[in-house]
Amino acid sequence: MKSVRIFSNTHRQLKKEFAKCGFKLIKAKNCRSLLDLGCGDGRDSIYFANKGLKVTAVDFSKSGIEKLKTRQNRIKNRINCILKDIRNINFPENSFVVIYAHLSLHYFDDKTTSKIFDNLYKVLKKGGLIFVKCKSTDDALFGKGKKVGENMYKKGHVQHFFTKEYMTEKLKFITNINRLLSKRLRRNRICRQAR
Ligand SMILES: C[S@@+](CC[C@H](N)C(=O)[O-])C[C@H]1O[C@@H](n2cnc3c(N)ncnc32)[C@H](O)[C@@H]1O
Repeated sequence: MKSVRIFSNTHRQLKKEFAKCGFKLIKAKNCRSLLDLGCGDGRDSIYFANKGLKVTAVDFSKSGIEKLKTRQNRIKNRINCILKDIRNINFPENSFVVIYAHLSLHYFDDKTTSKIFDNLYKVLKKGGLIFVKCKSTDDALFGKGKKVGENMYKKGHVQHFFTKEYMTEKLKFITNINRLLSKRLRRNRICRQAR
């Protein structure tokens, strides 16, 4: 049995504090390991490591990963920092209790997005949690720039804007979906629990 919660932008706390809200659920489930996908300079990785989680942080930005390494050395965190493309991660099955992706999974075309989600489902442990924050088609930037695919626009870089249905489809292996949706949904925020 699996479940999804979709939070909207009107969920005030989630708007600014995705990691903090996520941690409440992580703590309640007593989870120990977390994969931070597209970690950037590791703001959230450090937050989770400071909360006692064993964190693996992945990004393909050399400068982001270098910055995270420097920051974590200063505070003696032991985050496993990996310079890698999200599309090519190959962790063994059931590696992580928590997968966390803060605005890092909305850059890819449909085929690639599907592959990434399938792979994440594989590496997520049974009973684990997945947190995904993506741009939605209600985002102010939707439709701006050059259209390069279905709900994909290039303005500087390519962004893939998700609909609720699209995200739900990507998580189709989920059987029970709970939603907290606003009328003016700007971003989809999803927490999935796999049981
Ligand atoms: C909007 S930033 C979010 C960074 C971080 N999660 C945060 O909340 O501060 C998106 C991040 O995804 C990373 N990213 C985008 N495409 C990626 C890919 N194919 N593989 C790995 N990282 C990627 C970027 O380098 C960037 O650090």
